[in-house]
Amino acid sequence: MSLPLEGKIAVVTGAGTGIGLAIAERFAREGAQVVLVGRRKEKLDEAAARMGNGAYGVSVDVGDEAQVRDLFASLDRVDILCTCAGKAVFGAMDELPPSAVRDLFSGRFFGQVYACHYAIPKMSEGSVILLCSGIADRAHVPEYSGGSALCGAVNAMGRNLAVELGPRGIRVNVLSPGFIGSTEIDFNLEGEKAIAFVKRSIASTPLGRPGTPDAMADAALFLATCDFASGQVIEVDGGWTAS
Ligand SMILES: NC(=O)c1ccc[n+]([C@@H]2O[C@H](COP(=O)([O-])OP(=O)(O)OC[C@H]3O[C@@H](n4cnc5c(N)ncnc54)[C@H](OP(=O)(O)O)[C@@H]3O)[C@@H](O)[C@H]2O)c1
Repeated sequence: MSLPLEGKIAVVTGAGTGIGLAIAERFAREGAQVVLVGRRKEKLDEAAARMGNGAYGVSVDVGDEAQVRDLFASLDRVDILCTCAGKAVFGAMDELPPSAVRDLFSGRFFGQVYACHYAIPKMSEGSVILLCSGIADRAHVPEYSGGSALCGAVNAMGRNLAVELGPRGIRVNVLSPGFIGSTEIDFNLEGEKAIAFVKRSIASTPLGRPGTPDAMADAALFLATCDFASGQVIEVDGGWTAS
């Protein structure tokens, strides 16, 4: 019996660590040839070597449009695009330099815009886009106004893109992580603030624990394979946004 992603080419950004890595591993295990994208080439190469099935790493800063353009120019076709590259920036609005929010959008939002822009021409009926946002536009996360705006922007883009690309048979969905542990994410918090953030995030999660990158991979595989799921924002958050 063939695997569900057999013969598919999947481009996963942020694939060297954390959520992107778990998704890339799952897609490879389910038969896809995975192109792992991130900035630290050694992380991507190590992961690709473990995965096999023709996986390879490409060092790209997703916030640099020319690098993203060149990445997709090197591919004949894209069946799955999953955009997990990004970071988080915390701080009260009157303390965080606005340039930090601009920087957040440059990589994490525009990285997804560039990837979609250059991947879509390589897609055909049956292709899938999985964007990555976060729950902060639906749940209050203290001192995260800039990040919450980013989450809302990605969610809105995903829903609109699903309508735009539906007639071409391309599905678009958004993965929205709650508090996910075992990743390298830099929350830009230190000391007491970092400890308080972790405690508050767990207390806000009805399941009472952080999620795992594997749980995100479960959701990603579902969205990559369910051929009638489109235009959805899937909160993988242990119930945070429902509470
Ligand atoms: N963990 C959570 O609780 C959580 C919650 C909500 C949303 N998210 C979002 O989920 C995504 C994955 O996060 P994660 O927790 O798995 O963190 P992570 O382990 O730090 O993964 C993020 C990956 O993105 C890559 N990356 C960052 N900026 C990049 C850029 N400009 N160009 C190319 N690659 C870039 C990083 O690798 P390089 O540094 O090598 O490039 C890294 O491998 C992020 O967008 C994050 O904001 C996470």
